Parts: sequence; structure tokens; C-alpha cells
Amino acid sequence: MTKSNKTKPEIARRIRELPEYLFAGIDRKKAEALAKGVVLIDLSIGDPDQPTPSNIIRAMKLAVEDPANHGYPPYEGTNSFREAVATWYKTRFGIELDPVKEVLVLTGSKEGIAHIPMSFLNPGDLSLVPDPGYPVYNVGTRLAGGGSYYLPLSRENGFLPDLEKIPARAAKRAKLLFLNYPNNPTAAVAGKEFFGEAVKFAEKYRILICHDAAYSEVYYDDYLPPSFLEVEGAKEVGVEFHSLSKTFNMTGWRIGFVVGNAEAISALGKLKTNIDSGLFSAVQVAGIEALNGDRTVMEKIRAVYQERREVLVKGLKEAGLEIDPPKATFYLWIKVPSGYTSVGFVEHLLEAGGIVCTPGSGFGLAGEGYIRMALTKDKDRLNEAVARIKKIGF
Ligand code: MLT
Repeated sequence: MTKSNKTKPEIARRIRELPEYLFAGIDRKKAEALAKGVVLIDLSIGDPDQPTPSNIIRAMKLAVEDPANHGYPPYEGTNSFREAVATWYKTRFGIELDPVKEVLVLTGSKEGIAHIPMSFLNPGDLSLVPDPGYPVYNVGTRLAGGGSYYLPLSRENGFLPDLEKIPARAAKRAKLLFLNYPNNPTAAVAGKEFFGEAVKFAEKYRILICHDAAYSEVYYDDYLPPSFLEVEGAKEVGVEFHSLSKTFNMTGWRIGFVVGNAEAISALGKLKTNIDSGLFSAVQVAGIEALNGDRTVMEKIRAVYQERREVLVKGLKEAGLEIDPPKATFYLWIKVPSGYTSVGFVEHLLEAGGIVCTPGSGFGLAGEGYIRMALTKDKDRLNEAVARIKKIGF
């Protein structure tokens, strides 16, 4: 501490050493470009541009008026929300869930993902974390005093981790295995065969699998993402996180849930009862409408992304970029042209073209060589992005 700082409270090492959140850093760069007068096309964060469907908003408005929703909500989620989750799981995946023991509401899936390491890791324990991957897997692990053992994902292995390559000494120290399919940022998908291998691995090393399924409802053509819990034995060793954010254009509402292994749900629930006071019941009423109300809503949202995917994939290929069309998620994982790093190409697109993307390396070392674009702008803006890229070249 410098002399002038001697009287100031010292910030804990765990915060000082915490990296800046990827999208907070990108927000700063956007602000700098905006201040220079650049007209931006922002394809960086996965924040849907379309409004929350009106049936969900109507449900919320009525629920806000009801004084029954004004007090503390039940810690684990209202019974009716947890029942709605169980009904949705049965309808969508054919999986039976006990709404009381196997479902927990979250303040968005990010919150649950950030907190679950605190329920399972002792200092020095490991989480097995995909690289590239959602930064919160590593950050939650570090805040719990643990360390991340990274599992590289590459195009050659379909962006699936090779579990056999994990050394036994790391597997023995690991308490959690994070998986995420459909995958952010690579847009890769995983089948039941891979999930089956993961279950066997988890059984062998007594590891809890945390499957992040935030993008399970954003899919294309005839592909239907499975739940990890569809695999035999999965509920004994794992939980699955969901978010209403991406599926229903509800990122600002902060509602998600986790389902699966009852002991894990209970351990996370115990932590949460001590640090938060549940999720506003009116938001949960809106969540029930989202999950089990008008099902055509999801189809319409998917149709919009499907059209955008065609436009952007075609345009970027014409511009000379290499890209595999995604089967799911609203992300494109694009190979960086030779001569650029991920960050260098993102800077080029921002500075010369006003296009904001996410560098693959922001999701981990193995993301180097790629950038991510989100399909979260309308067709015209995507066409404009393509036109700008063709104009500036690379
Ligand atoms: C993303 O864009 O990858 C994330 O969904 C953003 C976030 O959750 O912070």
C-alpha cells in the first residue's frame, strides 16, 4: 500500500486478483468508440434485442398488483414456479423431477453457477472447466478458494472435452465438472453418448457435473438439444442450469433455475438461504407463463434467429471468413483470418468497421484464433455489418 493509501481500507486479494469481467471490458471499449462518434453494430454480448413476449409481460403486470407477491418469496422458489419447471421438463425432455427436492429458482443461471463452487469446493480443490468457456465457471471456482483445471475444446474434437486426457491426479482433486451444450462460445452441440461418458467419469471420481443448458431452446432446422439428465445415472451425479434470459428475451428479469441431484440442490439452496432472500414472486409468475404459457412464442423467436443465422453465415462466408453454421445457440464462432490474433481482429472490426464482437481468447486461451458474433441484431444491421466487413477487408 502506498503512503497516501495508508488510511484507506484495503481491498481483498481475491478481488484485486479477479480479472475484469469480459463483457464489462467490452462495454468500456464500446463507450470509447461511441465517444469518438463511431456508429456501432454491437454483436458482442448475448443480450437479445427483441422484447420479452407480451403474454409474459401481462402475467408480470397482474402479479405486481397482487399484494400476495410483495413480501419475501420462499427461498427455494414458489411452489407454483417449481411445479411449472417440473411440468416443462416432463413436456420438453420427458424427465420427471420432484419440484420440491430437485428444482431451485435462481437469480439468473449466472448466479447459481457462480455460487455452486462455494457449496462443493474446499480451498485447494479443483473444478474442471472448459476452455474456451463462460468465464463464470472459473471465477466462481476461484472465489470459493479453488482452482480451475482447463479442458481444451477444439474444432478437431467437435469442441467436446476429451475426458480421458484428464490426468488422474487432477480428476482426484476435482469436485465439479462444468459442461455447457449447446455451447457458448463455440456453438457446438453434444449428444447423449458424450453425456453418458461424462456420467461414467463423474461416478469414477465422485465429481458433480454442472451442466449449463442456457441455450437449450435456441436451435435450428431439425436439431433438438437433449438434456444432460436424459442420460442414465445423470441425476445421481449432476445438475442442470437453465436460464429464461436467452429463450424468452428476459436477460433483464434475472430468472433461471437449476434441477437435478437433490443433495446438490439442497447444498446450493442452503448457501443461498444464507446470502439472498429469494426471487421476487411476481417474476416467478412471469416465469411460469414463459415456460408453460403460449408455446408458439419460442417458435417465433427461433424463426427470427434462424433467418439471421442464414444472413450472417452467408454474408461472412462471401466476405472470406471461415465458419461452421451453428446447429444451436445464437452465436457464430468464426475463425480469425491469418495475420491476426483474436483481439487484433476484434480491434480491426471495431476501429475500422464499428462492429463490436467478442475475442475468442476472452473465453480462455484455447479460444485464441476465433471471434464470436451474436445474432442479436436485426437482419438489416447484420447485412450492414457484412457490407462494412467487405468494405474494410482484412
Ligand atoms: C455471453 O454473452 O456470453 C453471456 O451470456 C453474457 C453474460 O452472461 O454475462
